[in-house]
Amino acid sequence: MDKKTFYITTPIYYPSGNPHIGHSYCTVASDAIARYKRMQGYDVMFLTGTDEHGLKIEQKAEAQGISPKEYVDHVVSIFQNLWKLLNISNDRFIRTTDDYHVKGVQKIFKELYDRGEIYKGKYEGWYCTDCEAFWTETQLKDGKCPDCGREVKWAEEEAYFFRLSKYGDRILKLYEEHPEFIQPESRKNEMINFIKQGLGDLCVSRTSFTWGVPVDFDHKHVVYVWVDALPNYITALGYGSDDLSDYNKYWPADVHFVGKEIVRFHTIIWPAILMALDLPLPKQVYGHGWLLFGDGTKMSKSKGNVVDPYILCERYGVDAIRYFLLREIPFGSDGLFTNEALIARINSDLANDLGNLLSRTTAMVQKYFGGVIPAEREVEPLDNELIEMASTLRDRCDAAIDKYQFSNALAEIWKLIARSNKYIDETMPWALGKDETKKARLAAVMYNLCESLRIVSILLAPFMPQTTPRIQEQLGVSGDAVSYESAGKWGVLPEGTEIRKGDTLFPRIDVNKEIEELNKLIPNPMEKKKEEPKAEAAPKAEATEKKEAPEGVAMIGIEDFAKVELRVAEVLACEPVKRAKKLLKLTLNDGEGERTVASGIAQWYKPEELTGHHIVLVANLKPAKLCGVESQGMILAADTPDGVKVLFVDEIPAGSPIH
Ligand code: MSP
Repeated sequence: MDKKTFYITTPIYYPSGNPHIGHSYCTVASDAIARYKRMQGYDVMFLTGTDEHGLKIEQKAEAQGISPKEYVDHVVSIFQNLWKLLNISNDRFIRTTDDYHVKGVQKIFKELYDRGEIYKGKYEGWYCTDCEAFWTETQLKDGKCPDCGREVKWAEEEAYFFRLSKYGDRILKLYEEHPEFIQPESRKNEMINFIKQGLGDLCVSRTSFTWGVPVDFDHKHVVYVWVDALPNYITALGYGSDDLSDYNKYWPADVHFVGKEIVRFHTIIWPAILMALDLPLPKQVYGHGWLLFGDGTKMSKSKGNVVDPYILCERYGVDAIRYFLLREIPFGSDGLFTNEALIARINSDLANDLGNLLSRTTAMVQKYFGGVIPAEREVEPLDNELIEMASTLRDRCDAAIDKYQFSNALAEIWKLIARSNKYIDETMPWALGKDETKKARLAAVMYNLCESLRIVSILLAPFMPQTTPRIQEQLGVSGDAVSYESAGKWGVLPEGTEIRKGDTLFPRIDVNKEIEELNKLIPNPMEKKKEEPKAEAAPKAEATEKKEAPEGVAMIGIEDFAKVELRVAEVLACEPVKRAKKLLKLTLNDGEGERTVASGIAQWYKPEELTGHHIVLVANLKPAKLCGVESQGMILAADTPDGVKVLFVDEIPAGSPIH
């Protein structure tokens, strides 16, 4: 018989900046579900990916003097590296720039047009000529462009529209007939109110930028973001191609995990598009809460208050971070992310409760029985509560996981861990160990503790996939003894199993010292940072060269640094680049001759402010062509609260090497 399938998705993230802990939150949660379902025997499809088109990306790339594709390739590789680091077990990774997705979206757009669900009309709004962007009245800041602060004018643009307005009643009916469609329940009313206010048709194409999926029957237009992004959930399964086997197997999705701010798109626009195409609807959309910073603001790239997951994983280990994210905050609610809470969880739950239980148990089995628990064991009524709790733990975890209550599932597991620690205090093995006549009783106590830990290790595996094999190795269990089936059974640990004491799972952290160090590394939310995270703000025309060094992790050795040839150079001439308003073309004397460098600093410097200065040049960077300019290197600049500042070293002669 075919296995039952389970299809789960994360949002596809914008690669407009590096991933932060907020993106990791949804991805880790989806991963835990995917792993849990696989463990239960489902045939799982777990999809994540990136949403790569749109004006914002086009502008970011231009600011760095590279093509949009080069820009996204770089950032997407950082996302992918982070998912690898966090042990994310996604089956597929979709990029909206992938050919099959582009073709799929074009097909869907055409199909909707042919069915009369999309029509051509006019888009009106406040237009900023400099940013080439339309804004609604409410988006304006003091009547001006919210991005650049310049004047805007009322403008019209030809655009395609999707007949969203006709779907209001059908969507309300969907919510009524499928009360489970929007979860948590609390998010449903907001959607109902939104629909009841009346749905307008949705603008689904643009002519004001080009970085998007072209409408194949009208080349002036590119498909506007949501109609490009939402169909990823089906194009990833082959919809729009000739091979529909995965689509037929996995669609409709069992659940789309999304942050609460995009529930509307997933529970109104997405079902409407699918209805218009006569396709089945996803079974559920779960809108999880936000990670907030200590001051209660949402962590976001534009606020610059993001927590870097690389730093955290490096310091505490991936599983500690996965555990904290899923345990600390109930999935549907917002929750604070604080360094203090993170360390408290690591010390109390991981080092004290779990770590101690394992190390005490394995050390005692070693000490009293040389690592092998004798077959002769004497049970007592005192054992029953522990045995009952451990044998039924799987059911309670299953129930919590069915409702995506990660925190409750973990709390149940920790109840058993706490009960086991208490059991050690109650049975006092150290006293039993002194009495030769109590050997069989001591053996039963040790066996019960190992059994509890075995069950804990199985059910914890989807949440902490790196730690649980270490627990199982110390317990000497593998294969059937660690299967999902055996998590629901007591007395599985085979006779003669060899138990060894291993390394400490989670070393205790010195709280005060650590908080001080961590606060230096992770931005303090009270200090408002500059708009852009550091990784993006420095002008780096050669961003693609940095692929191998994701932000936050890269400690390099002196031999790596020695590979970079830094040299002082004089700016002989400087001029704007016609096709790229953010770029300046510099002609340099590098001590050996002349060379040109393109740098994305036009926003901060007029050409005459650079001419004559001596700057620091990365002299051995591979040349790259940027908007028609051959760039033979890169100049160094600092990212300061007042903008980017080029490093001037006027007193040092051109050509001087820098070590
Ligand atoms: N590209 C769209 C989604 C298209 S899905 C068809 C998008 N991308 S995003 O990069 O902004 O990612 C949004 C998602 O990242 C949120 O919905 C949420 O899952 C996650 N998070 C981003 N910041 C977050 C927090 N501060 N807290 C929790 N999750 C956060 O929207």
